[in-house]
Amino acid sequence: MHKIVVANWKLHPETKSEAIRLARAIDKKGVIICPPFPFLDSVRENLLHALLGAQDTFWEEKGPYTGEVSPAMLKDIGARYVILGHSERRNVIGETDAQISKKAVVAIWAGLKVILCVGEPLSVRKRGLAAAKNFVQKQLKEDLKWVKRKDVIIAYEPIWAIGSGKADKPEEAAEMARHIKRVVGGKAGAHKVKVLYGGSVNKKNGALFLKQKDIDGALVGGASLRPRDFVHIVQSVT
Ligand code: PGA
Repeated sequence: MHKIVVANWKLHPETKSEAIRLARAIDKKGVIICPPFPFLDSVRENLLHALLGAQDTFWEEKGPYTGEVSPAMLKDIGARYVILGHSERRNVIGETDAQISKKAVVAIWAGLKVILCVGEPLSVRKRGLAAAKNFVQKQLKEDLKWVKRKDVIIAYEPIWAIGSGKADKPEEAAEMARHIKRVVGGKAGAHKVKVLYGGSVNKKNGALFLKQKDIDGALVGGASLRPRDFVHIVQSVT
């Protein structure tokens, strides 16, 4: 099966020329590149193999919403995917499940494929994997209230693993992926749900996650800014 590797650049790089250079260096099949909004257009112009994604969008299509970017605008400039509910947006910006669920509807309506991020904080994981599963299940129920499973890819990103250098254990991430597939797809449709793992994926551990049968790809932050490391991760799939 074909695995997906998402490059989430977050608030990097600083210039358009750097974004173009970076994009060309990681332009591989199976890759989805998610640059900051101002670089989306120039990155798309420079891609031959990878697909384009945005890091967020808004829940209205147009109107008096200063500073926001609509899904239709993203679609129009060639984005195919949008990340929603990243823990940095939930925790730094204060985004709620109710807002994320509205964003998902409008994004899918506009023709974007949603990459929904879910994942538990350390305080929950300390209580065990079962507690983490419950936490994630609640997020999924709320965030996907209005949408169909075929329109979303889920990224399991335990918050404590993001940017910390401490990735989850591949086997436990795979167990969580199976849980997510059952919650989102039900018994009959579980095999159709795609689940990515994110959180300190690097060139050393990438292959360990990607070889797990139930993990359909990776969402990569820090290492997506280091082309050699990122390409190493991508090549470990093929
Ligand atoms: P990281 O970020 O790879 O730097 O841990 C992953 C993410 O936040 O998507």
